[in-house]
Amino acid sequence: MSRKRIIAGNWKMNKTPSEAKALCETLIPLVGNDDVEVVFCVPAIDIVPVVEAVKGTNIGVGAENLYIEDSGAYTGEISADMILDAGAKYVIIGHSERREYFKEDDEFLNKKVKKAIEKGLVPILCCGESLEQREKGVTIDWIRLQIKSDLDGVSAADAKKVVIAYEPIWAIGTGKTATSDQAEEVCAAIRACLAEIYDQETADAIRIQYGGSMNASNAAELLSKPNIDGGLIGGASLKADFGQIVNA
Ligand code: PGA
Repeated sequence: MSRKRIIAGNWKMNKTPSEAKALCETLIPLVGNDDVEVVFCVPAIDIVPVVEAVKGTNIGVGAENLYIEDSGAYTGEISADMILDAGAKYVIIGHSERREYFKEDDEFLNKKVKKAIEKGLVPILCCGESLEQREKGVTIDWIRLQIKSDLDGVSAADAKKVVIAYEPIWAIGTGKTATSDQAEEVCAAIRACLAEIYDQETADAIRIQYGGSMNASNAAELLSKPNIDGGLIGGASLKADFGQIVNA
């Protein structure tokens, strides 16, 4: 089963619209690789200028969040239809920063996953353990719980559209990357969990990314692992390194 690699940048709360356009100009010549699905997940206000800037390239655009309702009195939120109409096709769901700072729990994230799928957006569903959980030896149990809750009620056919990002919280923005063996162990456990929920064929079709201080020097080693199909890149997605990761 060959899964197309997917390298996604998570710009987080960085880049104004004009800075976003300039960053696209820098990155576009560096990320041309037809074997890889390349995605820029950007702040909501940058979606329109980034979609415009990457027109005619292999780059897809994603949002970093969405709300579970279609429209209405939800001040400050953005809907799946808005994201799609702006020209984006992906959406990050359940990043650990959303879980921690904005108290998004698995029940709510499950609704977001379903809304994204219903509307035709590709969810990039994040999961990951804290350092405390890793030290206690409960990493795999915790990740399995997240995956099962976040995909609750999602059919096998729909689950194949989801991209899962394994991002150990202790590795995000810290410069402390999981070793390729640590990352592979959890990504393999995620695939086993998907095979349990669905079946092996479905599990083999779902792409699993690693994220957490992935950079130009460690990407090739992480991406050489059989269950790691790509990366979700924070800090390094804002510089030329992103091109090196895409081509790693
Ligand atoms: P990082 O962030 O690459 O800066 O560690 C990854 C992420 O949070 O998606």
